[in-house]
Amino acid sequence: MLNVTVLVSGGGTNLQAIIDAISEGKITDTRIVQVISNNPGAYALERAAKAGIKGICISPKRFESRADFYDALLKQIDDAGTDLIVLAGFMVVVPPSIISKFRNRIINIHPSLIPSFCGTGYYGLRVHEAALAKGVKVSGATCHFVDEGTDTGPIILQKAVEVLPGDTPEILQRRIMEQAEWKIMPEAIQLIAHGRVKVEDGRTVISE
Ligand code: GRF
Repeated sequence: MLNVTVLVSGGGTNLQAIIDAISEGKITDTRIVQVISNNPGAYALERAAKAGIKGICISPKRFESRADFYDALLKQIDDAGTDLIVLAGFMVVVPPSIISKFRNRIINIHPSLIPSFCGTGYYGLRVHEAALAKGVKVSGATCHFVDEGTDTGPIILQKAVEVLPGDTPEILQRRIMEQAEWKIMPEAIQLIAHGRVKVEDGRTVISE
């Protein structure tokens, strides 16, 4: 059984996709042991509550220093027996202390085809604004392991999504969520839960 901690900050539609995939049997041998938000108002916490999953807020504002906040976050993750950390719209930079302890056991979803439109400053609608400004005809989403860089870790799954005439950043964001993010994040978790993802020389190898 893969014990997953999901870290969130906002709406939690990717969290919902994971919850639904577990209840529909598309993800097996996996349970979400807790959802942690840095933001007390995150709707994702309500989604967790509705699904009967423990939801916790750990706000950096409650701590004297950033280091104390990160210590509390790591302790909460550790104490729950976490095997895999899923970043589902978590707007906090994960510190090296957590990354090194959970090497190739943290995954993130990014709303572009990495290495396009990623790295520092590319988050939320900015990603889609940049894609539209460039005039790309295809964008998409990438699920990847998290390393010390920004969006630089080994790529697990990617899915392309068409950019259509008349797209706004908001419309493109929604299409990429529906057609790519909500699909590949659960698929990646299912692959990991069944030991099918290995990292070799900074790249993933997915076995049959
Ligand atoms: C998504 O667009 C995801 O790509 C990005 O943050 C957003 C999270 O949305 N990393 P939600 O909270 O899952 O609805």
